[in-house]
Amino acid sequence: MKIVKDVAEMQRTADEIRRSGKRLGLVPTMGYLHEGHMSLVDEARKNADVVAISIYVNPTQFAPNEDLSSYPRDFARDEKLAETRGVDIIFAPSDSVMYPHKQLAFVEIEEVSRVLEGEFRPTHFKGVASVVAKLFNIVKPHMAVFGQKDAQQAFIIRKMVSDLNFDVNIVLAPIVREEDGLALSSRNIYLSEDERKKATVLYRSLKLAQKAVGDNERNLARVRSEMLELIASQSTGKVDYIDFVDPDTFSKVEDVGSLERVLALLAVRFGRTRLIDNMILETRPK
Ligand code: PAF
Repeated sequence: MKIVKDVAEMQRTADEIRRSGKRLGLVPTMGYLHEGHMSLVDEARKNADVVAISIYVNPTQFAPNEDLSSYPRDFARDEKLAETRGVDIIFAPSDSVMYPHKQLAFVEIEEVSRVLEGEFRPTHFKGVASVVAKLFNIVKPHMAVFGQKDAQQAFIIRKMVSDLNFDVNIVLAPIVREEDGLALSSRNIYLSEDERKKATVLYRSLKLAQKAVGDNERNLARVRSEMLELIASQSTGKVDYIDFVDPDTFSKVEDVGSLERVLALLAVRFGRTRLIDNMILETRPK
């Protein structure tokens, strides 16, 4: 496994791989790897001959009051995990490599960056889209894998790729959950033992939504109320939002209408830890 820390070297390496006729896949990460990331690596392996992961905690996607400085980092552990899973290249730049000068060029995906996560983190998706654009220009992948766990991020990256004609195929990988339903996230490490147990209510609330919609409930405001009640009765989690969108457009929906699938998304704070989760609700189960 090759570790690359420099932009020019990564671009040269990518050019060589491309010239040799091999397909290069990228899994962009912020490190502190877990099984969720590893499932993205497996997905990349299915689609590419050479698998690269990037490990970079991107400062421009954190607001000043967020957890940039405390975001968990453990490169030695990440390196071992990546190697064991058959990753070929780790691109691990420093801040001065990624942002050598004051950055003035950014990518903004309008409208969809302002809702849900964007209401609570107004600058977040500008940072995400811009760093992913930089990573695409540096690693030059044929394809890249993103997790459905960050559903809004995945939608935004797809929109960027399609609107700006990036020559990268985006593949989405399903959410990986612990046995008790908690979606894997590097931030789960912040949870106390009690918060960790209570956080499983997020999955239960999404399953409740799936059941309600599957049982023909069309009114999503009512589904939201039931989810809020469940979360309040089983935890001290503070709900930032529970929303429903059309998965194809990301526009909010309050009624199932003729949609066959509705994406339910939520963000809930447990102490200082903010968790997000989502589920595609099948409105006409077999
Ligand atoms: O999902 C993440 O870990 C980050 O937002 C990403 C895509 C690596 C960009 O920094």
